[in-house]
Amino acid sequence: MTATTDMLESMPPLGSGLGFRQEIRNQMIEHSDEIDFVEIIAEMYAERPWLWDDLGEIGQHFPVIPHGVKLSIGSDMPLDMDFMKKIRAVNEITKAPFYSEHLCMTRAPGIDIGHLSPILFTDSLLNTVVDKVNRVQDYLGKPLALENVTYVFDIPNPPMPQTEFFNRMVDRTDCLVLLDVTNVFINSVNHEFDGVQFMRDMPLDHVVQLHIAGGFWSKHEGEMIDGHCEPVQDGTWELLEELSKMPSNIKGCILEHDANYPDEGLGHLLETVDRARNIMGWPSRKQLNVA
Ligand SMILES: [Fe+2]
Repeated sequence: MTATTDMLESMPPLGSGLGFRQEIRNQMIEHSDEIDFVEIIAEMYAERPWLWDDLGEIGQHFPVIPHGVKLSIGSDMPLDMDFMKKIRAVNEITKAPFYSEHLCMTRAPGIDIGHLSPILFTDSLLNTVVDKVNRVQDYLGKPLALENVTYVFDIPNPPMPQTEFFNRMVDRTDCLVLLDVTNVFINSVNHEFDGVQFMRDMPLDHVVQLHIAGGFWSKHEGEMIDGHCEPVQDGTWELLEELSKMPSNIKGCILEHDANYPDEGLGHLLETVDRARNIMGWPSRKQLNVA
């Protein structure tokens, strides 16, 4: 057992939830008894302190997990402590048990890439990432959960597989993992590998949360893209079913949906949230409140 697996052991389930988006704010609050928790994009608030009261109000309706997109933990650059200060403020408002981000790079010296770019899985970058994860966890006073991202092309002869990088990073930092099941599905389709085996090879005892989303086929490249705007595909559901049979201590799953909102209410989004909850066998907030 480690400090983090101990924490997971005693942490209550988060359940099945939905990414919080302003466009569907009112509908989400209206249906809060069907949405067990929400995930907010941390930078939306970190860079807009005038929205911090509003963030506190969202927390009156749902447990809130902040999810970041600009930490760039995979860049060989020092942490931006001005940025981290704002991220810590968001974490203090939400009082979340962990902070989630991506195992990727969004910045290089002098350049903002503006995209979750994959990193090279080398020993030297592992040392850099380990050092930065430890610093972030110390600074925030809570575990960091890092997410697997999609990638467009395979780098020939990688020094180590992505799953080995995740395992070694977890061994040296005791950080958590956010497993994006749709990203596993999309990468397994685009790069022709076994998604179930990929999940088995991840450090499942440190996976705290999942993402699911709908992707689409790119017309030009014949590749699947993680668009976050379509219904969740069968391939993601099949992987989620397989994952639910593996030993783990996963606490929650967020449906990421960023466009093509239903015209009225939340329609298929709530059905998707409910289906994920049933597959993972979590009680709903409604059931927990009744019990
Ligand atoms: Fe994701």
